[in-house]
Amino acid sequence: MTEKERILQLRELLHRYNRAYYVDSTSLISDFEFDALMHELEALEAAHPEMADPNSPTQRVGSDLNTNEFQTVVHAVPMLSLGNTYSPEEVTAFCGRVEEGLGRKDVDICCELKFDGLSISLVYEHGNLVRAVTRGDGTQGDDVTNNVRVIKSVPLAIPADAGCPEHFEIRGEVLMPWSSFHALNEEREIAGEPPFANPRNAASGTLKSKSSAVVERRKLDAYFYQLICDEIDVATHHEQLLLAKKWGFKVSEHIEVVHSAEEVQEYITRWDTARRDLPVATDGVVLKVDNLAFRQALGMTSKSPRWAIAYKYKADRARTLLRAVTYQVGRTGVVTPVANMDPVLLAGTIVKRASLHNEDMIEKLDLHIGDFVFVEKAGEIIPQIVGVDLEHRAAAPEEIGEKVRFATVCPVCHTPLTRYEGEAGTYCPAEYGCAPQMKGKIEHFVSRDAMGINSIGPKTIDVLYDSGRIRDIADLFDLRISDLCGADGSRERSAMNMLRGIEESKQKPFHKVVFALGIRFVGKVAAKTLAEHFKSMDALCKAGEEELQAIPGIGPVIGKSVVNYFRDEHNRKLVERLTAAGLQMQQEEKGAESGAPQVLAGLRIVISGTFEKHSREEYKALIERCGGKNQSSISSQTSFILAGEGMGPSKRVKAEKLGIEILSEADFLERYGL
Ligand code: IVH
Repeated sequence: MTEKERILQLRELLHRYNRAYYVDSTSLISDFEFDALMHELEALEAAHPEMADPNSPTQRVGSDLNTNEFQTVVHAVPMLSLGNTYSPEEVTAFCGRVEEGLGRKDVDICCELKFDGLSISLVYEHGNLVRAVTRGDGTQGDDVTNNVRVIKSVPLAIPADAGCPEHFEIRGEVLMPWSSFHALNEEREIAGEPPFANPRNAASGTLKSKSSAVVERRKLDAYFYQLICDEIDVATHHEQLLLAKKWGFKVSEHIEVVHSAEEVQEYITRWDTARRDLPVATDGVVLKVDNLAFRQALGMTSKSPRWAIAYKYKADRARTLLRAVTYQVGRTGVVTPVANMDPVLLAGTIVKRASLHNEDMIEKLDLHIGDFVFVEKAGEIIPQIVGVDLEHRAAAPEEIGEKVRFATVCPVCHTPLTRYEGEAGTYCPAEYGCAPQMKGKIEHFVSRDAMGINSIGPKTIDVLYDSGRIRDIADLFDLRISDLCGADGSRERSAMNMLRGIEESKQKPFHKVVFALGIRFVGKVAAKTLAEHFKSMDALCKAGEEELQAIPGIGPVIGKSVVNYFRDEHNRKLVERLTAAGLQMQQEEKGAESGAPQVLAGLRIVISGTFEKHSREEYKALIERCGGKNQSSISSQTSFILAGEGMGPSKRVKAEKLGIEILSEADFLERYGL
């Protein structure tokens, strides 16, 4: 086989494995084998630039170098919106209108979930993705092809034997699954960025990102629900979707074709609760006449088709009285307004506080103290004030209180607040004189993903800070047992625990230290990138903006923030004190460089039981040093189990069921010469 043939073969294989994993949720090969094939393809493509293909599996990796400029593209067929209703009766009326319009009773209705993301249209030529365009205004949208290519469940090239037509367009919804959404918001909070209000906003912000590397990291998904193609000969929408599924598109498994308005109602009722267990957000169901000829006959009104309707589930909503607006100051100094309301029952929990996000939100709602406000909770998101009951305000003008105006000084340290041009947030600039900011920085420093000092929590920090025993993160390393005894009502044993935690943190790797400093916008991933690039705190301190910006994954915002951080004398002193305390200020060399034999490269190992020669922790570290990966539970991906004394029986059963080898401590050490 020539190298060129091998390139084509590898592309097809990798597309197939990718589809199995991201669309069908099955794994045909191990990650290790997948990575090996991908590396082989990368190397061959580098040697044959004439074979470049934007749809190659190697192109699924995002890039920070492309700054996307989105071209406007006109849709070949307008992307219509649907008639919306919140009323089950109107859905039944819709079924009635359809039957009447067609003059028959036997009209199949395709029931689908209404995914809550943003709609997208993909165009394929000869089985290859050529363009991805957002809905825009329905007539024209933005070309976001580069960003869609890194959504792993979107097919880039459809296998030749799948029998797809030469040209077709397919539409669906780009979504951010709940798991990605929560992880993203957690990361943003740590980096001092405002969280996204819901997965839809997060997905839409992400898809419009200038960097496809950002899109890749945020793990979007896409479900497809409409095929536009004249070249195929099927009679129904449902059959079209089955074809799309065969070509490799992700099509919801929860689509049902029903035969009556009663069955439609049953679907709506069933999914009102069942949808809460789905991995992605949905906000209703879409009901579509299934027969394509019937659709043609029904036609459309000026705005939307007569053959479909969207039923939206009502968000859980309550009405209550706004008593006061208070303010919280975060680690980065951002001041968040909080609505304090009369307690009210909402979706099973009592709600009395809701975030008002920022000054603009207060303005938009035109809030007055004493207003009756509507509070909503969608899915598992924190309650939001979505509006004011203006009718009540009009009926009882004497009850209107003072208009809410955003605080002008910090509620804690009384420093005048600032709002930067183009930013929604308002900040307290007293970085080193404002207790919640100082405490927040220390909390971040000890947190799990930073220095991991579990024995010190927010309560202890409160006590230590308020009593003046610590003022900043470096003070932690000067603490003595007498400072800690009774710090939060604790005795000697917990004081010792705290000291041990502080001591152990000195061994935490350099990238954790970089993250723990709490430099604005420097999340876990950026900290690791910076640590790997600069290798030492000394080099990082001296980095210029240009050098920082040129690092893939860093960019201008983080670059500027890092430079500003180290420009500050206060921070430089802090780093000096941390260095003197003995924290890791150098990047540890990787296993391969430190000379450890990479005999476990690519292996996934589960450790179970207790051992004679080394502790579990030592074995875990050894596995990593030798290139292996520790897994916490057994899966089909596990290479083998390193079993000590007292391995649990359920683990043994699972391993035997999956045919996974169980190695004793001695066998393991002997086999790998360790
Ligand atoms: S069908 C002409 N099916 O809801 C019919 N739409 O206004 C085209 N949506 O903009 C839409 N899930 O973004 C359809 N299963 C589904 C859907 C769905 C979500 C969105 C779509 C559209 C809006 C309806």
